[in-house]
Amino acid sequence: MKVTVVGAGNVGATCADVLAHREIANEIVLLDIKPGFAEGKALDIWQTAPINLYDSRTVGSTNDYAATANSDVVVITSGLPRKPGMSRDDLIATNAGIVKSVTENIVKYSPDAIIVIVSNPLDVMTYCAFLAAKVDSKKVFGMAGILDTARYRAFIASELNCSPKDIQAVLMGGHGDTMVPLPRYTTVGGIPVTELISEEKLNAIVDRTKTGGGEIVNLLGTSAWYAPGAAAAQMVEAIVRDQKRIFPVCALLNGEYGMKDIYLGVPVKLGKNGIEEIIELKLNDSEKALLASSATSVKEVMGVLDSMNLF
Ligand code: NAI
Ligand code: 2OP
Repeated sequence: MKVTVVGAGNVGATCADVLAHREIANEIVLLDIKPGFAEGKALDIWQTAPINLYDSRTVGSTNDYAATANSDVVVITSGLPRKPGMSRDDLIATNAGIVKSVTENIVKYSPDAIIVIVSNPLDVMTYCAFLAAKVDSKKVFGMAGILDTARYRAFIASELNCSPKDIQAVLMGGHGDTMVPLPRYTTVGGIPVTELISEEKLNAIVDRTKTGGGEIVNLLGTSAWYAPGAAAAQMVEAIVRDQKRIFPVCALLNGEYGMKDIYLGVPVKLGKNGIEEIIELKLNDSEKALLASSATSVKEVMGVLDSMNLF
């Protein structure tokens, strides 16, 4: 399997490192526009192989898309990250142009690739890539829900002093402060979380999850990369190993949840064909209202993309 990661910055290089270390792909291409940057990161990753005992090969390329030809999966992380005081949406003016041109180049050399978008603002950048790629929406989707649920699950594990492995959760909506964690669909070792954590504490965990990206931006001065890189690699693994895993993924809705023509986080089944099924949960009235409000926020940013007249 050949996987390309575009953007050799914090998230892209971490993703490539996880892909290599866990032998998720045997050939990994890291591409960046900054001269020598991807080559340097790829060389450093490759030099961990004798230490970490794997044989996946990572190579770097400065903007030469021929090196990415015939990739099975492509992860796009190129673009500006958030800085303190910025929302993910502030990134659109720069990142839309980057995501459009990168996607067009990728599709030229790998017309059958499944494309996973990471660049922010995530939901709208995924829509932008879909418009640029002109392929089935089942093959173009975005990473956010795995990261956001990982944050939610980590906070619950800390609260209960239990293993994060035992926490199952789903979260929906856009990758922004209006995302919708769903305590009603959260379990700890099969036990509903609502049996184990008080409503007040659970509400605080939900709120912390919604602003979890900003919490790290304020601490680091830039956005997170370990969990985002690992989350993107987990999606690649589900695809290349045809695992049929159920994850929250940013997918194009075509009537599901009563919405159309919008990319939004929903639970899906992920396998070798990309999104193999969008799962429609039964939401109660307050969950439906939260999802609708999240969709409204995403649509506002879609309006900004439309006004840029890129397509
Ligand atoms: P970074 O600045 O460390 O890396 C971005 C890389 O993209 C840089 O190396 C830059 O040279 C490269 N780049 C820029 N334009 C390019 C082009 N046209 N072609 C190829 N490479 C290009 O940023 P970081 O932290 O890796 O974040 C990357 C993106 O991912 C940001 O937009 C960030 O907001 C987003 N992000 C999304 C998350 C999610 O959950 N979806 C989580 C974390 C970050
Ligand atoms: C994150 O959630 C900023 O989207 C980035 O860490």
